[in-house]
Amino acid sequence: MKIVLISSRPQSFEGLCEHLHRNDVTRVVTRQEGGIQDLRLVADHDHPDMILVECSALDSGSLAVVERVTDQYPRMAIILLGAQQDPDSLIQAMRVGIREVLAAGASREVIEAAVNRVETKLGLRIRQRGGQVIAFVSSKGGSGATFLATNLAHQLASGGKKVLLMDLNLQFGEAILTIHDQAQSSDIAAIARNIGRLDASLLQASTVKISSNFSILAAPEDPAQALHVMPEHLDAILAIAVEEYDFTVLDLNRTLDDLAIHALDRADQIYLVLQAMLPYIRNAKRVLTVFRSLGYVSDKVELVVNRFGRGAEVGFDDLRTSLGPNRIRTVPNGFRDVADAINQGQPLAAIAPSGVVSKAISDWAQALLPKPEPASGGLLSRLLKF
Ligand SMILES: Nc1ncnc2c1ncn2[C@@H]1O[C@H](COP(=O)(O)OP(=O)(O)OP(=O)(O)O)[C@@H](O)[C@H]1O
Ligand SMILES: [Mg+2]
Repeated sequence: MKIVLISSRPQSFEGLCEHLHRNDVTRVVTRQEGGIQDLRLVADHDHPDMILVECSALDSGSLAVVERVTDQYPRMAIILLGAQQDPDSLIQAMRVGIREVLAAGASREVIEAAVNRVETKLGLRIRQRGGQVIAFVSSKGGSGATFLATNLAHQLASGGKKVLLMDLNLQFGEAILTIHDQAQSSDIAAIARNIGRLDASLLQASTVKISSNFSILAAPEDPAQALHVMPEHLDAILAIAVEEYDFTVLDLNRTLDDLAIHALDRADQIYLVLQAMLPYIRNAKRVLTVFRSLGYVSDKVELVVNRFGRGAEVGFDDLRTSLGPNRIRTVPNGFRDVADAINQGQPLAAIAPSGVVSKAISDWAQALLPKPEPASGGLLSRLLKF
């Protein structure tokens, strides 16, 4: 959830921004100096989900600016701060698509309540709905992001969770081939073309069912179709996916374009996959710099050093020194098992369940799965209560 706050005195809203972020860490809130005349610029440049804009007088010029933005970005929510509250002004505001009008000097609690209402109405309250969103990004081609995303998704499903893998390598995605040998019947671009009809059953019908609780939403076979998938389509799909699936795993393109940033903003956890070699490490550092500028806290981003072993070009301590404070996970090399699984279009756990790579991915999935409640009422626990 990306929110931009436009004000002539943006520094006075520092406390509000922190408050909004603290109450929902998936909100990325930034401030910008300006007024309602800058609405269009911010909308075009930042593509936020919501803009809070200070505006004292709601004249016809301001209404026209808002209308142009809401026409072009119907899913972008606009909240006015400090505008008139008389019934005529409110009706005019609603007509041009403004979601809420708040009085000047509204407290941060009042503003947050309005933000909550708009998020709920637009289906943007993703975190509250339970399903987790996990994104995989490759620091450099061939790091193993797709292989790890598909196989982690498979292991989470084997752990009893309902899992959707979305292939967001829209032009040349092949996540499905990594784990499955049947042709796909639909894809994400087909949903984009029918976005007005999107609901849980269309989403489910557009996926390929790998097992009873593991589905893949494939990338289009025709790369040209990728152009039809817009960030707002992804928002709509994710809003439904988090309600329907315990885990939504995103396999992302390496290009950090608008769509990828939208997906990353929504992720609860990002895995940046690299290998212990200098070109991968250099790229990973560049990607981490971008992530920091996007406001992602280090807890949200975990580094996954794939194909890591004793003979690695760069050792673990050097990786830690050069990559900074983010958590680091390693996955061992297992060329034969991995190549066999991919060549047969099968999950690794089905081909080499006791191999080292399978074991590492299974431990990883276990760490993400909720721990079973400790048995209560046992004799020992009852005795300990006394
Ligand atoms: N732990 C591993 N051990 C051995 N081989 C691996 C391992 N992980 C991945 N590979 C191999 O690396 C190859 C590249 O993996 P993959 O396609 O998942 O990378 P990627 O990061 O998604 O690349 P791209 O950026 O091109 O999408 C795979 O074909 C697979 O054979
Ligand atoms: Mg890939």
